[in-house]
Amino acid sequence: MEEKKIMLSGIQPSGDLHLGNYLGAIKNWADRVDAFDCYYFMADLHTITVRQNPADLRRRSMQQLAAYIACGLDPEKNTLFLQSMVPQHAQLSWVLSCYTQFGELSRMTQFKDKSAKHKDNINAGLFTYPVLMAADILLYQPHYVPVGADQKQHVELTRDIAQRFNSIYGDVFRIPEPYIPKAGARIYGLTTPGDKMSKSIPEGCVFIMDDPATIARKFKRAVTDSDRENCVRFDPENKPGVANLMSIYSSVTGKSYEEIEKEFEGQGYGVFKPAVGEAVIDTLRPIREETERLIKDKAYLEQVYREGAQKASYIANKTLRKVYKKVGFVQI
Ligand code: TRP
Repeated sequence: MEEKKIMLSGIQPSGDLHLGNYLGAIKNWADRVDAFDCYYFMADLHTITVRQNPADLRRRSMQQLAAYIACGLDPEKNTLFLQSMVPQHAQLSWVLSCYTQFGELSRMTQFKDKSAKHKDNINAGLFTYPVLMAADILLYQPHYVPVGADQKQHVELTRDIAQRFNSIYGDVFRIPEPYIPKAGARIYGLTTPGDKMSKSIPEGCVFIMDDPATIARKFKRAVTDSDRENCVRFDPENKPGVANLMSIYSSVTGKSYEEIEKEFEGQGYGVFKPAVGEAVIDTLRPIREETERLIKDKAYLEQVYREGAQKASYIANKTLRKVYKKVGFVQI
């Protein structure tokens, strides 16, 4: 039997999961489970590059694990784990940091953005964050790394680090490919259709755990366009708000843009916006209910993260041992 290709990705539990995480990432991960050997983790080590409230971080990490499962990531078929429970991430990160240049890290756009935003806390972790991400990835020898377009630069750096290491020590790491979702899978903020949906603008962000009334309200207030054309037409350049609503509607109903244009012909945004809201409510309801149920089942979640960490460390350790040997550390 041919071995399955390996896929790996993570999301930081720095905020509650939202519709953009679901439609842009997790939903697609769940669809690929049979074709790939999949590793998905909560990138909790990454979150402390920005100050976190410890109780919130713990709650969000567990909620994210529950939501992964509720969104269809079966822990029997995927390896689901918390990054901080697998010590090899931090260990490999140190080694890789000695094979990464100061200049390379200085060029990362996310570092430039985040250090401008958190001027009072430009810590070393914020700067070396892409090295930890390279370690997250390379430990599992994945073929593909599904990430949003904003993370592509980090995956490219990962490839550069891996190639550099391999050119010195031989084939230690597989060179991973970024796997960027196609245009429609990128979800923008409902009030700021120029920027991706983000927890930092909560009015325009639909959280997986939002109740139906809240979701309905957010969609009613969604920005459409300024030309008052009041016509549901897919034109991302001139009508980014409408295009975003259409891509959300298309993702949750499976309808094409053409079908959507027909469905709302002559009806205007007053009908279209609440309809998108309803469709999203229907999609998220079972996910929210299942997440709520799982959060209460602490014993089950504990079993999932224990087994996940065990499986992940087993694989991660193989790569780490190889690396330690190659660089010249004495083996026990
Ligand atoms: N940096 C990613 C983000 O902020 C999260 C992440 C951490 C990640 N490690 C990763 C994604 C490894 C993919 C692979 O979105």
